[in-house]
Amino acid sequence: MPTYQFEPEAIAGKGDVIAGDPSQRGVDKVLLGRLIESGPRRRLFLDVSGEQVVAILGKRGTGKSYTLGVLLEGLAAGTGTTQLAELQTPRAGLVFDIMDIFWTSRIQLTETGSVEITKQYRAMTAAGYHSQPVAVDAWIPAGFESPQIDPAGLRLLQMQASDLELDDWAALFDVDIFNEPRGMLIADALMHVSRDGYTTSNGGRVQPVPNYSFADIVQCLDTDQDVLQNYRPETIRSIRQRMMSYAGLALFSGAGTPLTDLLQPFRVSVLMLARVPDALKKVIVAVLLKRILRVRRDASFAQKRLDLDSSLSADETARLREFVRTSIPRTWLLMDEAHVLAGTSEGSVARDALIKYAKEGRNYGLSLAVATQQPSALDPRLMSQTETLIVHQLTSPSDAAVATANLRSPAPSSLKIDGAAASLDMLLRRIRQGEAVFSCGNAPALQRICLAAIRPRVTAHGGYEA
Ligand SMILES: Nc1ncnc2c1ncn2[C@@H]1O[C@H](COP(=O)(O)OP(=O)(O)OP(=O)(O)O)[C@@H](O)[C@H]1O
Ligand SMILES: [Mg+2]
Repeated sequence: MPTYQFEPEAIAGKGDVIAGDPSQRGVDKVLLGRLIESGPRRRLFLDVSGEQVVAILGKRGTGKSYTLGVLLEGLAAGTGTTQLAELQTPRAGLVFDIMDIFWTSRIQLTETGSVEITKQYRAMTAAGYHSQPVAVDAWIPAGFESPQIDPAGLRLLQMQASDLELDDWAALFDVDIFNEPRGMLIADALMHVSRDGYTTSNGGRVQPVPNYSFADIVQCLDTDQDVLQNYRPETIRSIRQRMMSYAGLALFSGAGTPLTDLLQPFRVSVLMLARVPDALKKVIVAVLLKRILRVRRDASFAQKRLDLDSSLSADETARLREFVRTSIPRTWLLMDEAHVLAGTSEGSVARDALIKYAKEGRNYGLSLAVATQQPSALDPRLMSQTETLIVHQLTSPSDAAVATANLRSPAPSSLKIDGAAASLDMLLRRIRQGEAVFSCGNAPALQRICLAAIRPRVTAHGGYEA
């Protein structure tokens, strides 16, 4: 292994590097790995006491999904001090798993078992770690499960038509809501079903239903006098047909999964999305992101009233406390292959929702970690929200340029590889699988970027070719 010499020291004095919180609280922290530079032995912790946005970059096969898995394990390691993390504050995790590779964190590594499991087990023990269960649940949108191949205990996600906002409908039907008759029809039907009610062609009156279903919309398309008068039969037919096929999906047929089921303190939910068609995948992600943001916004508003408003009556205090207690906890969202849902190439409801989440979420206890092999294809508005960068090997100059431009810790005053002066680009080209350059804007003690080996996983890594 090459020797890497940096100046100045990563931090003054001895001890671990703990980075991620501008006030360096260190109340909650997740172990990422250890520094592999010459100098004192130091572990590298991500301080998750406050909210933040993390980006994990690197070319194919360099360890991005693995590193995201390390973060997932840390967040799901439970309260107190373990080999993976030190956690006190209740937080939930949610992985949007578009490759279906993270459910494997439910599987503990064991000494005996398949070739893959024992290989991963040996890597873990060789580095001084032991097997440890983590609190991970695997979820799949209802209707996309496949009993023949699925592991036991998959949980089914359901959504309600009324959870969708206008831009979600536009994405789902691939229409322009404001300028296209098919789009305007959807908007009118939604308004009638949810807010205004409508008169049917035989003079009956249908009252609005706030928690409407796809079936309610189909009924409106079939019987609403205004709709039947104002739109051409073929426009109605084409929307009705798609509406019927969505109405038939198990995903949309129940009462909708409460967010409090999906997001539980000290647990991580992995939502398997690989089998879901792209348009629907984006809508599911967008709807969940927007719901999480809304619910946490209200919870943190209530919390701030409790913290700051001294004029509260006993009744009000009790009500606000109950509101906070029954809401969702602070949450980390993890997304691999982020360029797919948050790339620059095309408009996407998921991307817009993710950018809003990244921009506003930290005020409401929401953090984000994204990984991508194409940093130059990631929306720059997302990149600009990132304080912490974990950069695995990058060889393409354009991707390396995006990474180095976004490093938020000072560059070293001197960097040598095997005794010879080197540049950051050379370093990024040189590092091996599982190694990464770490930089963090929320780390006053960190005097420069540092170089780490990410720790081995203690549960099964699912991101290999099979
Ligand atoms: N920190 C690590 N410790 C040990 N092995 C690692 C580490 N990181 C990565 N690996 C090894 O490298 C392989 C590839 O890692 P990973 O699946 O994370 O790559 P990736 O960057 O996500 O690739 P892709 O772009 O193809 O998704 C893993 O299967 C694992 O064997
Ligand atoms: Mg990967």
